[in-house]
Parts: sequence; structure tokens; C-alpha cells
Amino acid sequence: MKKQKIATVVQELNLRMKKEPISLRYVQILGTVVFFTSVSSLVILLVLYLNQRLQTSLFLVEEHHTLTLNPLTSPRSHPPYPSPRSSSSDITDEELMRRAAMAPRSAIMNGTHPKVAFMFLTRWNLPLSPLWEMFFKGHEGFYSIYVHTSPEFTEEPPESSVFYKKRIPSKAVEWGRSSMMDAEKRLLSHAYLEPSNARFVLLSETCIPLFNFTTVYTYLTRSTRSFLGSFDDPRPMGRGRYTPKMLPHVSLSDWRKGNQWFEVSRRVAAEIVSDRRYYGVFKDHCRPPCYIGEHYLPTLVNKICPEMNWNRTVTWVDWSRGGSHPARFVRKDIRVGFMDRIRFGSNCSYDGEVTNVCFLFGRKFHVSTLEPLMNIAPYLFGL
Ligand SMILES: *[C@@H]1O[C@H](CO)[C@@H](O)[C@H](O)[C@H]1NC(C)=O
Ligand SMILES: *[C@@H]1O[C@H](CO)[C@@H](O)[C@H](O)[C@H]1NC(C)=O
Ligand SMILES: *[C@@H]1O[C@H](CO)[C@@H](O)[C@H](O)[C@H]1NC(C)=O
Ligand SMILES: *[C@@H]1O[C@H](CO)[C@@H](O)[C@H](O)[C@H]1NC(C)=O
Repeated sequence: MKKQKIATVVQELNLRMKKEPISLRYVQILGTVVFFTSVSSLVILLVLYLNQRLQTSLFLVEEHHTLTLNPLTSPRSHPPYPSPRSSSSDITDEELMRRAAMAPRSAIMNGTHPKVAFMFLTRWNLPLSPLWEMFFKGHEGFYSIYVHTSPEFTEEPPESSVFYKKRIPSKAVEWGRSSMMDAEKRLLSHAYLEPSNARFVLLSETCIPLFNFTTVYTYLTRSTRSFLGSFDDPRPMGRGRYTPKMLPHVSLSDWRKGNQWFEVSRRVAAEIVSDRRYYGVFKDHCRPPCYIGEHYLPTLVNKICPEMNWNRTVTWVDWSRGGSHPARFVRKDIRVGFMDRIRFGSNCSYDGEVTNVCFLFGRKFHVSTLEPLMNIAPYLFGL
């Protein structure tokens, strides 16, 4: 009975379809139109979303892009399990900050020179390390090196390398989140525990030195203030990220923005490693699209010790190509003229005098720049 009924219904349907071939075509056309409209609006939404993400994180996301594009440093080529070595030697961040808070606030020499601490915040290896090796060569005793990697990264460079055994116990970092600020604090606390470290510079794996070690060392150790980018940005991507929930600790007039890649004196480092109050406020209330790495340190220093900061960074990055991303440099960009524009193409104040040497490091250099950089290094380093 039922089967027959169904059969008749199907027959009727077939008949109707034959009777109304035009409206059926309309249905087909309508379906196609609806399908393509939804696909294209999805694409538009996706583009808008990505654009928004890029715009809100001006300083932070690009290291990640560089790395995933680089087959030599691709995460896939490394084992996905954490290193037992780094976890066993791990002390808690609390304990680390506690020890650091007790370290001397001024550098203690005891027969050595004041050192510059070079702190590398990276995911995997340092693809430009041969250039850095050349930079450090012959200056032992004037620098310290600290490297924070992804905890899964366990490769050790050869014993002859300046980076041998320089990795500190590291934890996973999510770019733009407070875990990245934790990593910066971890690096700074480790470096601060060494009493002869007088200056502290944070670098990424895409950073290069623009001058020889002597010039960089002298520039930093003779400066009376720190080089931490800090400015009041009235736009939505500046003040717009402030929330009154931070009151009474942080007001809108305290709020600053700046490049994440800083250089600080030991006195400013002391304030950073011992700060808990403001860090807690930022961890609670500065979450994407508020990027803690762009706001916490500039605001903290502005709040606690503004007179100790030049408010500018010594790490050059190129925003001139427009858009929401700084430019990334590849092999063909590396020429003497280009490098000299970075090195001498700006004016700034250095301890009361105007100078055209404003940047000591450059950022966003792809691994393909290594070979041409090694070729012009004798020129850059004045060898
Ligand atoms: C200074 O260094 C010497 C040996 O290098 C060491 O015995 C001494 O304890 C150090 N003094 C301080 C205050 O660190
Ligand atoms: C840096 O900016 C702060 C305000 O944020 C200001 O008080 C300080 O004097 C500035 N430093 C210099 C060297 O101009
Ligand atoms: C820097 O200052 C010098 C001398 O005042 C001037 O000739 C030059 O054009 C300035 N450069 C820039 C990039 O502003
Ligand atoms: C470092 O560079 C400066 C010029 O920037 C040069 O005068 C000096 O000789 C160089 N020092 C060394 C040790 O190569």
C-alpha cells in the first residue's frame, strides 16, 4: 500500500517537473546565485577578518610568518615532544622573579667590564647566527647571551658557537599574548641575575646588527637612559586599547604604546623584573586586540621611571611601504646603499646631541639575506 502511494507521489512529482520545466530552471539559477553569493560573502568576511587581525597587531605577528615560510626552521622538522633537559632544570617563574628581585640594582664589576646582555626571543634556531658570530668574535667578557626558544626545540649549536648552551629554560609562547611577555620577563630575569650585566637588549631571530660590536657596546653603555619605544597613540590601535577597568592603577594619560624590541639599563630592568602590580593589571585587562607586548613596558616605564627613557627604540623596522605590516627584507634588498640608509638615514638625539646614528639593529631580515649580509659584513663592521 505504502509503496504504491510513494510511487504515485513520485510519478506526480515527475509529471509536475515536466510540466514546469521553466520554474525548475529558475530554481536552479536561484540556487546557483545563492550559492555563489554565500561563497563570495564568506571570502569577503574572511579577508576583512584577516585584515583586522593584521592591523591590530602591528608589531607582533610577523615573526611568526617569517618562520613558517622558512623551510630550514619549520616546526615540522623538529620532534613534537618537550625536552626533558629544559624542564628538569626549570625553576618556577615565581622563584626566578624572587631571586632576580634580590639581585643588585646597579651592575657590579668585580674586576670585569660592564656587559651588554643580548636576549634572543625566538621560536627555533637563529637562522642569521653566522652574522652574529662574526659580530661577537673577539669581544668575550663584554657581552652575555640568553636565548628563549620554543620548549620543543632542543638542538644545541656546536661547542665553538657563541650560542652554545645559552638557551634558558623556556615555555611555550603564543605571539601577542601574555605568555610572550612572560618569556620576555624570563629572559630579563635570567640576565638580571648576572650582576655584571649593565644593559639588556631584546632581539628576535630576524634581527641583525648594523654596526660592529665596539660601536654598539659604546653606544649602549655610555647612554644615560634606556631605549624603549614609548609614545601616546591617539588612534583606536593605541588609546583605543585602553580600558577604564585598569583604574586606579593605570589611567588613560599613563597609557603608552611602543615597539616590543627594547633596550634597557639595569635600573629600568630592575623595575621591570620586580613589577607585579601593573603586570597583574595588564594580564587581566590587556588581551587581544590589546597586545600586551606593545603596551605593558611602555606604560610601566612611563608610570615608574619616565626620566630614565629616551622613548625611542634602537631597533629599526620599515613601515614606509605602507599597509599594516612592516616590510620584510630578502636577498635582493641587501645593498650597501640600502644598509647605509638604515644606518645613517635618520636624525635623533643621543644624550643631548643630535646624531644620525639612531639604530643599532635592524629587523625582519629573512634567512635568504644571510649570504649577502656576510659578504658586506666587513664593510658594516668596519673591518
Ligand atoms: C670577586 O671575584 C673573586 C674571584 O674572581 C671572588 O673570589 C669574589 O668573591 C668576588 N667578589 C664579589 C663581591 O662577588
Ligand atoms: C619620555 O616620555 C616621558 C613621558 O612619557 C617624559 O616624561 C620623558 O621626559 C621623555 N624622555 C625624554 C628623554 O624626553
Ligand atoms: C638630519 O639633519 C641634517 C643636518 O641638520 C640634515 O641635513 C638632514 O637632512 C637630516 N636628515 C633627516 C633624515 O632628517
Ligand atoms: C668599528 O666601527 C667603527 C666605525 O663605525 C670603526 O671606527 C672602528 O675601527 C671599528 N672597530 C673595530 C674594532 O673594528
